[in-house]
Amino acid sequence: MTFDHSKYRPTPTIALDDRQWPSRVIDRAPDWCSVDLRDGNQALVEPMTVQQKLRMWDLLVKLGFKEIEVGFPSASQPDFDFVRALIEGQRIPDDVTIQILVQARESLIARSFEALEGAKRAIVHVYNSTSPVQRERVFGLDKAGITAIAVQGAKWVREYAERYPQTQWTFQYSPESFSSTEVDYAVEVCDAVIAQWRDSGKPLIVNLPATVECATPNVFADQVEYFCRHSRYRADYRVSIHTHNDRGCGVAAAELALMAGADRIEGTLLGNGERTGNMDVVTMAMNLYSQGIDPKLNLSDMDEIISVVEHCTAIPLHPRHPYAGELVFTAFSGSHQDAIKKCLAQQDKDAQWDVAYLPIDPADLGRNYEAVIRINSQSGKGGVAWVLENDYGLHMPRWLQIDASRKVQAEAEAQSGELSAAEIWSVFAASYLQPQGQQSLQNFSISQDNASHHGHERLKLVTHINGQAVSLEGEGDGAISALTDAWQQRYGDAVEVIDYSEHALKSGTASEAIAYVLLSINKQRYIGVAVNNDVVSASLQAVINAAAQSQHTTQRKAS
Ligand code: KIV
Ligand code: ZN
Repeated sequence: MTFDHSKYRPTPTIALDDRQWPSRVIDRAPDWCSVDLRDGNQALVEPMTVQQKLRMWDLLVKLGFKEIEVGFPSASQPDFDFVRALIEGQRIPDDVTIQILVQARESLIARSFEALEGAKRAIVHVYNSTSPVQRERVFGLDKAGITAIAVQGAKWVREYAERYPQTQWTFQYSPESFSSTEVDYAVEVCDAVIAQWRDSGKPLIVNLPATVECATPNVFADQVEYFCRHSRYRADYRVSIHTHNDRGCGVAAAELALMAGADRIEGTLLGNGERTGNMDVVTMAMNLYSQGIDPKLNLSDMDEIISVVEHCTAIPLHPRHPYAGELVFTAFSGSHQDAIKKCLAQQDKDAQWDVAYLPIDPADLGRNYEAVIRINSQSGKGGVAWVLENDYGLHMPRWLQIDASRKVQAEAEAQSGELSAAEIWSVFAASYLQPQGQQSLQNFSISQDNASHHGHERLKLVTHINGQAVSLEGEGDGAISALTDAWQQRYGDAVEVIDYSEHALKSGTASEAIAYVLLSINKQRYIGVAVNNDVVSASLQAVINAAAQSQHTTQRKAS
Protein backbone atom coordinates (compact mmCIF):
# COMPACT_ATOMS: atom_id res chain seq x y z
CA MET A 1 0.00 0.00 0.00
CA THR A 2 1.42 3.41 -0.92
CA PHE A 3 0.82 6.52 1.10
CA ASP A 4 2.67 8.94 -1.08
CA HIS A 5 1.90 12.64 -0.80
CA SER A 6 4.01 13.47 -3.86
CA LYS A 7 1.03 12.19 -5.87
CA TYR A 8 -0.73 15.50 -5.12
CA ARG A 9 0.01 19.12 -5.92
CA PRO A 10 -0.95 22.24 -4.00
CA THR A 11 -3.93 24.28 -5.12
CA PRO A 12 -2.66 27.46 -6.79
CA THR A 13 -3.10 30.62 -4.78
CA ILE A 14 -3.88 33.94 -6.40
CA ALA A 15 -1.96 37.18 -6.22
CA LEU A 16 -4.04 39.57 -4.14
CA ASP A 17 -1.58 41.55 -2.08
CA ASP A 18 -4.06 44.31 -1.29
CA ARG A 19 -6.77 41.93 -0.10
CA GLN A 20 -9.38 43.69 2.02
CA TRP A 21 -11.33 40.84 3.56
CA PRO A 22 -9.04 40.15 6.56
CA SER A 23 -9.93 43.56 8.05
CA ARG A 24 -13.67 43.18 7.58
CA VAL A 25 -15.99 42.05 10.36
CA ILE A 26 -19.24 40.21 9.80
CA ASP A 27 -21.93 42.37 11.36
CA ARG A 28 -25.12 40.99 9.85
CA ALA A 29 -26.61 37.78 8.61
CA PRO A 30 -26.36 36.91 4.91
CA ASP A 31 -29.37 35.98 2.81
CA TRP A 32 -29.72 32.27 3.51
CA CYS A 33 -30.68 29.67 0.96
CA SER A 34 -31.33 26.13 2.11
CA VAL A 35 -30.22 23.39 -0.29
CA ASP A 36 -31.33 20.53 1.98
CA LEU A 37 -33.99 19.40 -0.45
CA ARG A 38 -31.62 19.38 -3.42
CA ASP A 39 -27.90 19.01 -2.62
CA GLY A 40 -28.68 17.39 0.72
CA ASN A 41 -31.20 15.07 -0.85
CA GLN A 42 -28.89 14.12 -3.74
CA ALA A 43 -26.30 12.94 -1.22
CA LEU A 44 -28.57 10.48 0.60
CA VAL A 45 -28.32 6.71 0.35
CA GLU A 46 -32.11 6.76 0.18
CA PRO A 47 -33.40 10.05 -1.19
CA MET A 48 -36.26 11.62 0.76
CA THR A 49 -39.82 10.55 0.09
CA VAL A 50 -42.36 13.24 -0.73
CA GLN A 51 -43.59 12.99 2.87
CA GLN A 52 -40.08 13.49 4.21
CA LYS A 53 -39.51 16.40 1.85
CA LEU A 54 -42.70 18.05 3.03
CA ARG A 55 -41.62 17.63 6.63
CA MET A 56 -38.24 19.19 5.84
CA TRP A 57 -39.95 21.96 3.86
CA ASP A 58 -42.24 22.83 6.77
CA LEU A 59 -39.26 23.00 9.10
CA LEU A 60 -37.22 25.21 6.74
CA VAL A 61 -40.15 27.62 6.40
CA LYS A 62 -40.67 27.63 10.16
CA LEU A 63 -37.00 28.40 10.80
CA GLY A 64 -37.27 31.45 8.57
CA PHE A 65 -35.57 30.55 5.27
CA LYS A 66 -36.76 32.90 2.53
CA GLU A 67 -35.07 31.05 -0.34
CA ILE A 68 -35.21 27.27 -0.56
CA GLU A 69 -33.78 25.11 -3.33
CA VAL A 70 -36.40 22.42 -3.63
CA GLY A 71 -34.90 20.02 -6.14
CA PHE A 72 -33.67 19.16 -9.58
CA PRO A 73 -37.07 18.58 -11.22
CA SER A 74 -35.75 17.91 -14.71
CA ALA A 75 -33.51 15.11 -13.43
CA SER A 76 -35.88 13.34 -11.08
CA GLN A 77 -39.60 12.61 -11.21
CA PRO A 78 -39.98 12.71 -7.39
CA ASP A 79 -38.36 16.18 -7.44
CA PHE A 80 -40.75 17.25 -10.20
CA ASP A 81 -43.74 15.90 -8.24
CA PHE A 82 -42.56 17.61 -5.08
CA VAL A 83 -42.31 21.00 -6.79
CA ARG A 84 -45.82 20.48 -8.18
CA ALA A 85 -47.08 19.47 -4.72
CA LEU A 86 -45.71 22.71 -3.24
CA ILE A 87 -47.23 24.89 -5.94
CA GLU A 88 -50.57 23.11 -6.32
CA GLY A 89 -50.90 22.56 -2.60
CA GLN A 90 -50.30 26.29 -2.06
CA ARG A 91 -47.70 25.52 0.56
CA ILE A 92 -45.34 28.34 -0.36
CA PRO A 93 -45.74 31.39 1.90
CA ASP A 94 -45.76 34.77 0.18
CA ASP A 95 -42.34 35.71 1.49
CA VAL A 96 -40.63 32.45 0.48
CA THR A 97 -39.10 31.84 -2.96
CA ILE A 98 -38.44 28.36 -4.26
CA GLN A 99 -35.34 27.60 -6.32
CA ILE A 100 -34.66 24.72 -8.70
CA LEU A 101 -31.36 23.53 -10.14
CA VAL A 102 -30.86 22.69 -13.79
CA GLN A 103 -27.97 21.98 -16.14
CA ALA A 104 -27.46 24.28 -19.12
CA ARG A 105 -29.39 22.01 -21.50
CA GLU A 106 -32.53 23.06 -23.32
CA SER A 107 -34.66 19.99 -22.68
CA LEU A 108 -33.87 20.13 -18.98
CA ILE A 109 -34.54 23.85 -18.81
CA ALA A 110 -37.89 23.37 -20.56
CA ARG A 111 -38.89 20.64 -18.11
CA SER A 112 -37.85 22.80 -15.15
CA PHE A 113 -40.13 25.62 -16.27
CA GLU A 114 -42.97 23.08 -16.58
CA ALA A 115 -42.34 22.04 -13.00
CA LEU A 116 -42.45 25.68 -11.87
CA GLU A 117 -45.60 26.66 -13.74
CA GLY A 118 -47.95 28.60 -11.51
CA ALA A 119 -45.36 29.57 -8.90
CA LYS A 120 -45.66 33.19 -7.77
CA ARG A 121 -41.90 33.56 -7.59
CA ALA A 122 -39.03 31.22 -8.39
CA ILE A 123 -35.27 31.15 -8.85
CA VAL A 124 -33.99 29.19 -11.83
CA HIS A 125 -30.47 28.10 -11.01
CA VAL A 126 -28.49 27.02 -14.05
CA TYR A 127 -24.96 25.69 -13.91
CA ASN A 128 -22.12 24.17 -15.83
CA SER A 129 -18.65 23.07 -14.80
CA THR A 130 -15.73 25.36 -15.43
CA SER A 131 -12.57 23.92 -13.83
CA PRO A 132 -9.64 22.63 -15.94
CA VAL A 133 -10.22 18.99 -14.98
CA GLN A 134 -13.91 19.24 -15.91
CA ARG A 135 -13.14 21.07 -19.14
CA GLU A 136 -10.37 18.76 -20.23
CA ARG A 137 -11.27 15.35 -18.85
CA VAL A 138 -15.05 15.43 -18.52
CA PHE A 139 -16.25 17.67 -21.37
CA GLY A 140 -13.24 17.67 -23.67
CA LEU A 141 -13.77 21.37 -24.34
CA ASP A 142 -11.64 24.48 -24.16
CA LYS A 143 -12.61 27.62 -22.25
CA ALA A 144 -14.54 29.03 -25.21
CA GLY A 145 -16.56 25.82 -25.47
CA ILE A 146 -17.44 25.90 -21.77
CA THR A 147 -18.37 29.60 -21.98
CA ALA A 148 -20.61 28.84 -24.93
CA ILE A 149 -22.51 26.23 -22.87
CA ALA A 150 -23.00 28.76 -20.05
CA VAL A 151 -24.12 31.54 -22.38
CA GLN A 152 -26.51 29.28 -24.27
CA GLY A 153 -27.92 28.06 -20.95
CA ALA A 154 -28.48 31.65 -19.86
CA LYS A 155 -30.27 32.45 -23.12
CA TRP A 156 -32.59 29.47 -22.75
CA VAL A 157 -33.40 30.39 -19.18
CA ARG A 158 -34.34 33.90 -20.27
CA GLU A 159 -36.38 32.68 -23.24
CA TYR A 160 -38.35 30.13 -21.24
CA ALA A 161 -38.99 32.64 -18.46
CA GLU A 162 -40.62 34.90 -21.02
CA ARG A 163 -43.09 32.09 -21.79
CA TYR A 164 -44.25 32.09 -18.16
CA PRO A 165 -44.72 35.79 -17.44
CA GLN A 166 -47.06 35.23 -14.50
CA THR A 167 -44.11 34.15 -12.33
CA GLN A 168 -41.61 36.61 -10.88
CA TRP A 169 -38.34 35.02 -11.95
CA THR A 170 -34.87 35.33 -10.51
CA PHE A 171 -31.97 33.94 -12.55
CA GLN A 172 -29.01 32.29 -10.90
CA TYR A 173 -25.83 30.98 -12.46
CA SER A 174 -23.13 28.76 -10.89
CA PRO A 175 -19.73 28.16 -12.43
CA GLU A 176 -19.66 24.68 -10.89
CA SER A 177 -16.22 23.83 -9.43
CA PHE A 178 -15.48 27.56 -9.08
CA SER A 179 -12.91 26.94 -6.32
CA SER A 180 -10.83 24.86 -8.74
CA THR A 181 -11.32 27.21 -11.69
CA GLU A 182 -8.79 29.87 -12.71
CA VAL A 183 -10.38 32.93 -11.14
CA ASP A 184 -9.95 35.14 -14.22
CA TYR A 185 -11.77 32.56 -16.26
CA ALA A 186 -14.53 32.34 -13.64
CA VAL A 187 -15.01 36.10 -13.92
CA GLU A 188 -15.07 35.81 -17.71
CA VAL A 189 -17.69 33.09 -17.85
CA CYS A 190 -19.93 34.67 -15.18
CA ASP A 191 -19.77 38.08 -16.87
CA ALA A 192 -20.69 36.41 -20.15
CA VAL A 193 -23.77 34.91 -18.48
CA ILE A 194 -24.74 38.13 -16.74
CA ALA A 195 -24.40 39.98 -20.03
CA GLN A 196 -27.27 37.79 -21.28
CA TRP A 197 -29.45 38.64 -18.32
CA ARG A 198 -28.63 42.12 -17.10
CA ASP A 199 -31.23 43.95 -19.21
CA SER A 200 -33.94 41.41 -18.41
CA GLY A 201 -35.10 43.37 -15.39
CA LYS A 202 -34.94 40.18 -13.33
CA PRO A 203 -33.06 39.90 -10.04
CA LEU A 204 -29.79 38.01 -10.64
CA ILE A 205 -27.53 35.82 -8.54
CA VAL A 206 -24.04 34.47 -9.23
CA ASN A 207 -23.35 31.50 -7.00
CA LEU A 208 -19.69 30.63 -6.41
CA PRO A 209 -19.33 27.02 -5.30
CA ALA A 210 -16.50 25.29 -3.58
CA THR A 211 -17.89 22.18 -5.22
CA VAL A 212 -14.88 20.42 -3.79
CA GLU A 213 -13.09 22.24 -0.99
CA CYS A 214 -9.48 22.16 -2.11
CA ALA A 215 -7.55 24.84 -0.19
CA THR A 216 -7.48 26.70 3.09
CA PRO A 217 -10.45 29.06 3.59
CA ASN A 218 -8.27 32.17 3.11
CA VAL A 219 -7.53 31.04 -0.45
CA PHE A 220 -11.26 30.74 -1.12
CA ALA A 221 -11.81 34.21 0.36
CA ASP A 222 -9.11 35.59 -1.95
CA GLN A 223 -10.87 33.98 -4.91
CA VAL A 224 -14.19 35.54 -3.91
CA GLU A 225 -12.72 38.99 -3.29
CA TYR A 226 -10.80 38.85 -6.56
CA PHE A 227 -13.98 37.77 -8.34
CA CYS A 228 -16.04 40.59 -6.86
CA ARG A 229 -13.44 43.20 -7.66
CA HIS A 230 -12.93 42.09 -11.24
CA SER A 231 -16.44 41.32 -12.46
CA ARG A 232 -17.68 44.09 -14.78
CA TYR A 233 -21.25 43.65 -13.66
CA ARG A 234 -20.80 43.14 -9.92
CA ALA A 235 -23.44 45.78 -9.14
CA ASP A 236 -26.07 43.84 -11.10
CA TYR A 237 -26.26 40.68 -9.01
CA ARG A 238 -26.01 39.19 -5.56
CA VAL A 239 -22.99 36.99 -4.91
CA SER A 240 -23.94 33.68 -3.36
CA ILE A 241 -21.55 31.16 -1.84
CA HIS A 242 -21.96 27.40 -1.82
CA THR A 243 -19.21 25.59 0.05
CA HIS A 244 -18.64 21.91 0.68
CA ASN A 245 -16.75 20.53 3.59
CA ASP A 246 -14.06 18.26 2.11
CA ARG A 247 -11.32 19.72 4.30
CA GLY A 248 -13.63 20.31 7.25
CA CYS A 249 -13.68 24.09 6.68
CA GLY A 250 -16.98 24.56 4.83
CA VAL A 251 -18.30 26.98 7.44
CA ALA A 252 -15.00 28.87 7.77
CA ALA A 253 -14.76 29.26 3.99
CA ALA A 254 -18.31 30.62 3.81
CA GLU A 255 -17.62 33.05 6.66
CA LEU A 256 -14.45 34.38 5.07
CA ALA A 257 -16.24 34.60 1.71
CA LEU A 258 -18.86 36.76 3.37
CA MET A 259 -16.07 39.06 4.55
CA ALA A 260 -14.75 39.01 0.99
CA GLY A 261 -17.94 40.43 -0.45
CA ALA A 262 -20.62 37.74 -0.67
CA ASP A 263 -24.28 38.52 0.09
CA ARG A 264 -25.86 35.13 0.30
CA ILE A 265 -25.00 31.69 1.62
CA GLU A 266 -26.29 28.31 0.48
CA GLY A 267 -26.08 25.38 2.85
CA THR A 268 -27.93 22.66 4.71
CA LEU A 269 -29.16 22.09 8.23
CA LEU A 270 -26.43 20.32 10.21
CA GLY A 271 -24.34 19.97 7.06
CA ASN A 272 -25.73 17.01 5.17
CA GLY A 273 -24.58 17.02 1.54
CA GLU A 274 -22.32 15.48 -1.05
CA ARG A 275 -19.28 13.61 0.38
CA THR A 276 -18.36 15.35 3.64
CA GLY A 277 -21.39 17.57 3.35
CA ASN A 278 -22.51 21.06 2.54
CA MET A 279 -21.71 24.06 4.67
CA ASP A 280 -23.75 23.75 7.86
CA VAL A 281 -26.22 26.62 8.17
CA VAL A 282 -26.92 25.81 11.83
CA THR A 283 -23.27 26.24 12.78
CA MET A 284 -22.79 29.39 10.75
CA ALA A 285 -26.02 30.98 12.01
CA MET A 286 -25.16 30.11 15.60
CA ASN A 287 -21.67 31.54 15.12
CA LEU A 288 -23.37 34.85 14.27
CA TYR A 289 -25.79 34.51 17.16
CA SER A 290 -22.95 33.93 19.62
CA GLN A 291 -21.43 37.25 18.49
CA GLY A 292 -24.62 39.16 19.25
CA ILE A 293 -25.76 39.23 15.60
CA ASP A 294 -29.34 38.35 14.68
CA PRO A 295 -28.93 35.27 12.44
CA LYS A 296 -32.38 35.80 10.89
CA LEU A 297 -33.18 32.16 11.50
CA ASN A 298 -34.91 30.90 14.60
CA LEU A 299 -32.93 27.88 15.81
CA SER A 300 -34.28 27.90 19.35
CA ASP A 301 -35.87 24.46 19.10
CA MET A 302 -32.69 22.58 18.30
CA ASP A 303 -34.18 19.23 19.25
CA GLU A 304 -36.90 19.63 16.65
CA ILE A 305 -34.30 20.51 13.99
CA ILE A 306 -32.27 17.43 14.86
CA SER A 307 -35.29 15.18 14.89
CA VAL A 308 -36.53 16.33 11.47
CA VAL A 309 -33.06 16.19 9.90
CA GLU A 310 -32.39 12.73 11.30
CA HIS A 311 -35.82 11.55 10.17
CA CYS A 312 -35.32 12.88 6.63
CA THR A 313 -31.67 11.93 6.11
CA ALA A 314 -31.43 8.79 8.27
CA ILE A 315 -28.03 10.14 9.38
CA PRO A 316 -27.59 10.37 13.15
CA LEU A 317 -26.10 13.56 14.53
CA HIS A 318 -22.60 13.38 15.97
CA PRO A 319 -22.75 14.01 19.75
CA ARG A 320 -20.09 16.69 19.39
CA HIS A 321 -21.65 18.47 16.41
CA PRO A 322 -21.23 22.25 17.01
CA TYR A 323 -24.09 23.75 19.02
CA ALA A 324 -26.43 20.81 18.39
CA GLY A 325 -24.73 17.59 19.58
CA GLU A 326 -25.89 16.16 22.85
CA LEU A 327 -22.45 16.55 24.46
CA VAL A 328 -21.53 20.04 23.30
CA PHE A 329 -22.61 21.80 26.47
CA THR A 330 -21.46 19.01 28.75
CA ALA A 331 -18.38 19.22 30.91
CA PHE A 332 -16.87 16.08 32.40
CA SER A 333 -13.56 17.60 33.43
CA GLY A 334 -13.40 18.72 37.05
CA SER A 335 -11.80 22.11 36.41
CA HIS A 336 -14.30 22.93 33.67
CA GLN A 337 -17.19 21.93 35.93
CA ASP A 338 -15.88 24.07 38.71
CA ALA A 339 -15.52 27.11 36.47
CA ILE A 340 -18.97 26.64 34.90
CA LYS A 341 -20.59 26.26 38.31
CA LYS A 342 -18.96 29.45 39.61
CA CYS A 343 -19.83 31.46 36.47
CA LEU A 344 -23.43 30.25 36.36
CA ALA A 345 -23.88 31.23 40.00
CA GLN A 346 -22.83 34.80 39.08
CA GLN A 347 -24.71 35.00 35.76
CA ASP A 348 -27.72 37.31 36.09
CA LYS A 349 -30.69 36.31 34.01
CA ASP A 350 -30.79 39.39 31.80
CA ALA A 351 -27.07 40.24 31.78
CA GLN A 352 -24.63 39.67 28.88
CA TRP A 353 -23.56 36.05 28.78
CA ASP A 354 -20.17 35.48 30.37
CA VAL A 355 -19.70 31.86 31.34
CA ALA A 356 -16.41 30.04 30.97
CA TYR A 357 -16.51 27.04 28.61
CA LEU A 358 -20.04 27.80 27.42
CA PRO A 359 -19.93 30.04 24.33
CA ILE A 360 -23.70 30.37 24.42
CA ASP A 361 -26.45 29.77 26.94
CA PRO A 362 -27.69 26.19 26.33
CA ALA A 363 -31.17 27.33 27.34
CA ASP A 364 -31.34 29.42 24.13
CA LEU A 365 -31.43 26.19 22.16
CA GLY A 366 -33.95 24.55 24.45
CA ARG A 367 -31.26 22.65 26.34
CA ASN A 368 -31.48 22.46 30.11
CA TYR A 369 -28.62 22.78 32.53
CA GLU A 370 -28.81 19.14 33.62
CA ALA A 371 -26.80 18.19 30.57
CA VAL A 372 -24.12 20.78 31.29
CA ILE A 373 -22.33 18.86 33.98
CA ARG A 374 -22.05 15.10 33.83
CA ILE A 375 -19.97 12.94 36.04
CA ASN A 376 -17.32 10.38 35.23
CA SER A 377 -13.87 9.64 36.61
CA GLN A 378 -12.53 12.94 35.16
CA SER A 379 -14.96 14.99 37.18
CA GLY A 380 -14.23 17.01 40.28
CA LYS A 381 -15.89 18.53 43.27
CA GLY A 382 -17.63 21.29 41.32
CA GLY A 383 -19.42 18.77 39.15
CA VAL A 384 -20.52 16.50 41.96
CA ALA A 385 -21.68 19.50 43.97
CA TRP A 386 -23.59 20.77 40.92
CA VAL A 387 -25.46 17.51 40.42
CA LEU A 388 -26.30 17.11 44.10
CA GLU A 389 -27.41 20.73 44.29
CA ASN A 390 -29.49 20.68 41.12
CA ASP A 391 -31.09 17.29 41.53
CA TYR A 392 -31.23 16.89 45.32
CA GLY A 393 -31.10 20.47 46.64
CA LEU A 394 -27.87 20.04 48.63
CA HIS A 395 -25.66 23.04 49.40
CA MET A 396 -22.61 21.19 50.62
CA PRO A 397 -19.79 22.89 52.47
CA ARG A 398 -16.49 22.86 50.60
CA TRP A 399 -14.89 20.13 52.77
CA LEU A 400 -17.82 17.86 52.00
CA GLN A 401 -17.66 18.64 48.28
CA ILE A 402 -14.02 17.55 48.27
CA ASP A 403 -14.67 14.37 50.22
CA ALA A 404 -17.81 13.46 48.28
CA SER A 405 -16.15 14.00 44.92
CA ARG A 406 -13.34 11.58 45.87
CA LYS A 407 -15.90 8.92 46.71
CA VAL A 408 -17.87 9.55 43.52
CA GLN A 409 -14.69 9.50 41.46
CA ALA A 410 -13.69 6.15 42.98
CA GLU A 411 -17.09 4.74 42.06
CA ALA A 412 -16.84 6.14 38.51
CA GLU A 413 -13.42 4.54 38.14
CA ALA A 414 -14.77 1.25 39.45
CA GLN A 415 -17.62 1.38 36.93
CA SER A 416 -15.36 2.76 34.14
CA GLY A 417 -18.12 5.05 32.99
CA GLU A 418 -20.49 7.86 33.60
CA LEU A 419 -22.56 8.01 36.81
CA SER A 420 -26.17 9.14 36.72
CA ALA A 421 -27.48 11.63 39.27
CA ALA A 422 -29.21 8.74 41.08
CA GLU A 423 -25.95 6.79 41.27
CA ILE A 424 -24.14 9.83 42.65
CA TRP A 425 -26.85 10.22 45.25
CA SER A 426 -26.48 6.56 46.30
CA VAL A 427 -22.74 6.99 46.75
CA PHE A 428 -23.44 10.08 48.85
CA ALA A 429 -26.13 8.43 50.94
CA ALA A 430 -24.09 5.28 51.55
CA SER A 431 -21.05 7.33 52.54
CA TYR A 432 -22.61 9.89 54.85
CA LEU A 433 -26.26 9.21 55.61
CA GLN A 434 -25.83 5.55 56.56
CA PRO A 435 -22.09 5.22 57.20
CA GLN A 436 -20.74 1.87 58.33
CA GLY A 437 -21.89 0.58 61.69
CA GLN A 438 -25.59 1.52 61.48
CA GLN A 439 -26.37 4.07 64.10
CA SER A 440 -29.74 5.61 64.65
CA LEU A 441 -30.98 8.19 67.01
CA GLN A 442 -33.77 6.62 69.12
CA ASN A 443 -34.95 9.47 71.30
CA PHE A 444 -33.63 12.49 73.07
CA SER A 445 -34.68 15.26 75.40
CA ILE A 446 -33.21 18.70 75.90
CA SER A 447 -33.77 20.77 78.98
CA GLN A 448 -32.58 24.22 79.98
CA ASP A 449 -30.08 23.93 82.85
CA ASN A 450 -29.33 27.41 84.05
CA ALA A 451 -27.91 26.13 87.33
CA SER A 452 -25.14 24.21 85.65
CA HIS A 453 -21.85 26.02 85.28
CA HIS A 454 -21.00 23.91 82.19
CA GLY A 455 -23.58 25.44 79.82
CA HIS A 456 -27.19 26.12 79.16
CA GLU A 457 -28.63 22.93 77.76
CA ARG A 458 -28.73 19.43 79.10
CA LEU A 459 -29.19 16.63 76.62
CA LYS A 460 -30.28 13.05 77.28
CA LEU A 461 -30.16 10.82 74.26
CA VAL A 462 -30.45 7.15 73.32
CA THR A 463 -28.95 5.91 70.11
CA HIS A 464 -28.00 2.61 68.55
CA ILE A 465 -24.40 2.18 67.59
CA ASN A 466 -23.33 -1.02 65.92
CA GLY A 467 -26.60 -2.61 67.02
CA GLN A 468 -26.20 -1.70 70.68
CA ALA A 469 -28.30 0.85 72.52
CA VAL A 470 -26.12 3.59 73.98
CA SER A 471 -27.34 6.24 76.44
CA LEU A 472 -25.56 9.56 76.45
CA GLU A 473 -25.89 12.59 78.65
CA GLY A 474 -24.12 15.93 78.40
CA GLU A 475 -24.30 19.70 78.55
CA GLY A 476 -23.41 22.54 76.27
CA ASP A 477 -24.32 25.88 74.70
CA GLY A 478 -26.60 24.09 72.33
CA ALA A 479 -27.71 20.61 71.37
CA ILE A 480 -24.58 19.85 69.35
CA SER A 481 -22.08 20.89 71.96
CA ALA A 482 -24.15 19.01 74.58
CA LEU A 483 -23.85 15.90 72.44
CA THR A 484 -20.09 16.25 71.91
CA ASP A 485 -19.75 16.78 75.64
CA ALA A 486 -21.78 13.61 76.22
CA TRP A 487 -19.61 11.68 73.79
CA GLN A 488 -16.46 12.94 75.44
CA GLN A 489 -17.74 11.87 78.87
CA ARG A 490 -18.87 8.42 77.63
CA TYR A 491 -15.80 7.46 75.61
CA GLY A 492 -13.10 9.81 76.85
CA ASP A 493 -12.48 11.07 73.31
CA ALA A 494 -11.32 14.63 72.55
CA VAL A 495 -14.19 15.88 70.39
CA GLU A 496 -14.30 19.22 68.57
CA VAL A 497 -16.82 20.55 66.05
CA ILE A 498 -14.73 21.98 63.21
CA ASP A 499 -17.67 23.02 61.04
CA TYR A 500 -21.39 22.68 61.07
CA SER A 501 -24.20 23.87 58.81
CA GLU A 502 -27.76 22.96 57.98
CA HIS A 503 -30.45 24.04 55.55
CA ALA A 504 -33.94 23.16 54.47
CA LEU A 505 -34.30 20.53 51.78
CA LYS A 506 -37.32 20.80 49.58
CA SER A 507 -38.50 17.46 48.31
CA GLY A 508 -41.98 17.51 46.83
CA THR A 509 -44.24 19.41 49.16
CA ALA A 510 -42.60 18.27 52.40
CA SER A 511 -39.70 20.27 53.69
CA GLU A 512 -36.90 18.42 55.47
CA ALA A 513 -33.66 19.67 56.94
CA ILE A 514 -30.16 18.43 56.19
CA ALA A 515 -27.25 18.93 58.57
CA TYR A 516 -23.54 18.64 57.76
CA VAL A 517 -20.95 18.26 60.49
CA LEU A 518 -17.18 17.95 60.46
CA LEU A 519 -15.83 16.62 63.74
CA SER A 520 -12.34 16.17 65.05
CA ILE A 521 -12.15 13.16 67.37
CA ASN A 522 -8.77 12.49 68.85
CA LYS A 523 -7.34 14.63 66.03
CA GLN A 524 -8.97 12.52 63.33
CA ARG A 525 -11.58 14.14 61.08
CA TYR A 526 -14.99 12.58 60.61
CA ILE A 527 -17.88 13.71 58.47
CA GLY A 528 -21.52 13.20 59.29
CA VAL A 529 -24.63 14.18 57.35
CA ALA A 530 -28.26 13.55 58.24
CA VAL A 531 -31.72 14.40 56.96
CA ASN A 532 -34.76 14.73 59.18
CA ASN A 533 -38.07 16.57 59.34
CA ASP A 534 -36.79 18.25 62.46
CA VAL A 535 -33.59 20.29 62.28
CA VAL A 536 -32.38 19.40 65.82
CA SER A 537 -32.82 15.68 65.10
CA ALA A 538 -30.94 16.11 61.80
CA SER A 539 -28.08 17.87 63.61
CA LEU A 540 -27.82 15.27 66.39
CA GLN A 541 -28.00 12.40 63.92
CA ALA A 542 -25.26 14.05 61.80
CA VAL A 543 -22.98 14.25 64.87
CA ILE A 544 -23.71 10.62 65.72
CA ASN A 545 -23.04 9.54 62.13
CA ALA A 546 -19.66 11.26 62.28
CA ALA A 547 -18.75 10.15 65.78
CA ALA A 548 -19.81 6.54 65.25
CA GLN A 549 -17.22 6.25 62.54
CA SER A 550 -14.53 6.88 65.13
CA GLN A 551 -15.97 3.92 67.07
CA HIS A 552 -15.87 1.80 64.00
CA THR A 553 -12.29 2.80 63.23
CA THR A 554 -11.19 2.22 66.82
CA GLN A 555 -12.90 -1.19 66.94
CA ARG A 556 -11.27 -2.15 63.70
CA LYS A 557 -7.89 -1.07 65.02
CA ALA A 558 -8.48 -3.01 68.24
CA SER A 559 -9.62 -6.22 66.54
O1 KIV B 1 -21.51 21.93 -5.20
C1 KIV B 1 -21.88 22.48 -6.24
O2 KIV B 1 -21.10 22.98 -7.04
C2 KIV B 1 -23.30 22.49 -6.52
C3 KIV B 1 -23.70 23.34 -7.65
C4 KIV B 1 -24.63 22.68 -8.54
C5 KIV B 1 -24.14 24.66 -7.12
O3 KIV B 1 -24.06 21.89 -5.81
ZN1 ZN C 1 -23.11 21.43 -3.87
